[in-house]
Amino acid sequence: MKVETIKTKPFLDQKPGTSGLRKLVTVFQQPHYLENFIQSTFDSLETIEGPIKGQTIVLGGDGRYYNRQAIQIILKMAAANGIGRVKVGRGGILSTPATSCVIRQSQSLGGIILSASHNPGGPNGDFGVKYNIRNGGPAPEKVTEAIFARSKEIDYYKILEASDVDIDTLGESKLGDMVVEVIDSVNDYASLMEALFDFDRIHDLLTSGAFRMCMDSMHAVTGPYAQALFEQRLGAPAGTVQNGVPLEDFGGGHPDPNLVYAHDLVDVLFGENAPDFGAASDGDGDRNMILGRQFFVTPSDSLAVLAANATLAPGYRDGLAGIARSMPTSQAADRVAAQLGIPCYETPTGWKFFGNLLDAGQATICGEESFGTSSNHIREKDGLWAVLFWLNILAVKQQSVQQLMQEHWQTYGRNYYSRYDYEGVESDRAATLMSGLHAKLPTLKGKRFGPREVDYSDDFSYTDPIDGSVSQNQGIRIGFTDGSRIVFRLSGTGTQGATLRVYLEQYEAEASKQHLDPQQALADLIAIADEVAQIRTLTGMETPTVIT
Ligand code: G1P
Ligand code: ZN
Repeated sequence: MKVETIKTKPFLDQKPGTSGLRKLVTVFQQPHYLENFIQSTFDSLETIEGPIKGQTIVLGGDGRYYNRQAIQIILKMAAANGIGRVKVGRGGILSTPATSCVIRQSQSLGGIILSASHNPGGPNGDFGVKYNIRNGGPAPEKVTEAIFARSKEIDYYKILEASDVDIDTLGESKLGDMVVEVIDSVNDYASLMEALFDFDRIHDLLTSGAFRMCMDSMHAVTGPYAQALFEQRLGAPAGTVQNGVPLEDFGGGHPDPNLVYAHDLVDVLFGENAPDFGAASDGDGDRNMILGRQFFVTPSDSLAVLAANATLAPGYRDGLAGIARSMPTSQAADRVAAQLGIPCYETPTGWKFFGNLLDAGQATICGEESFGTSSNHIREKDGLWAVLFWLNILAVKQQSVQQLMQEHWQTYGRNYYSRYDYEGVESDRAATLMSGLHAKLPTLKGKRFGPREVDYSDDFSYTDPIDGSVSQNQGIRIGFTDGSRIVFRLSGTGTQGATLRVYLEQYEAEASKQHLDPQQALADLIAIADEVAQIRTLTGMETPTVIT
């Protein structure tokens, strides 16, 4: 087998984002495009990590369209670049949390994850490539910057001239000098979950006959994991996992577990004869949504509940070192941390900001309002982990989701919360809106809006407590003296136009006022957000495209 050196040209016009390189499938299918990115990655690793010759990497994806082709290209390039061993998920399937788990357990150099997360798949959908480092977490800025820099200079890539590798049969084979090890996609991950949670109690709950759950894998990657965990190991009846077969186009759906896109599950949980518990996960398995019977748990509340009840799960029996949440996530977790006497860290949006805190042992549990929660067991967010954690807590407390949540609010107060997304806004209009807000920031402090007074207004900046690195312009915050808050930021993950996200939060300590519909409770704040940012005028949109 011969290593070919193919001439190429610089290709990236923008730095890979927080979630790697995400583009339309058709962009990735352009000649040399994926190859350039992979070669830029290998070259950067060589500079940053030292020789990659003989090293082990993990490779897998969420099964979306182009996954299998991309795996073959990457395997041949890995062999040509001297990688010693690639552990690839069977059929090219590995959820993002499972990849993180395998990288850590096998002490590999890192891993390549093929996914565009919750973005639609199929020939006209999105594809993505992300590199994760040795700790199992997304590549830090230093690495993505090196990849970007290399992509601007690249003039050749190396690939082995070979026929395709069988990735559907477990076991080892050779590709040139490199070993391709096809691993069971589920095993390592399922064992890790078994070590963290009380499987006996969850088993009792799921087989008691008094508790029914429904898991919607949305035709994305968690299907096989959810079936193995809930139906095989935990005794839930067959059919508990819906849409459990990963499809290249996710069955035409949008695999994002929120109230809009997971409407099939929402209909079941809010319908007649609803089960007790419902959950969904996204394309690559790192996000989760938790529902009770006729009840939606906001991700911010979910983080707070998991933190407050963490010691009920064997893996967290000794308590938490700290909690971390992204800035736009509600402050519900802060109240739990205060009660527990542990720190609560506020980080910019994006999972990578949790990595240092987890590595340093300063935070144990972390979460984002965007349906992401996880802990120090891996370095990614983890959808099924959150589902199992909830089940563990419910099994011990023998309460319904709603009871548990209401009891939590009585103890800590309720942070009413909602996120408004304005998708597909023209980039210029979005930029105008943000710069307009910026210009207003210094004038807002002390300004009154009805009974509310602005306490502070700023553009969030974060100094990493571990490495001192500073991240600026992470979103505009307007905080009021009554503890309510509005946050504005532009999405960093969209692929068409700009997405404006507006996050609204209102604290309510009194139990008698904790049962409002969040949209009602937040109505005044929503009006203020529009007044301050001129959302309707500047976006030309009367209503958001998604309300969570
Ligand atoms: C979104 C979420 C963010 C998450 C990211 C990757 O980013 O808001 O919390 O970390 O996806 O899943 P955004 O599009 O807002 O930049
Ligand atoms: Zn995802």
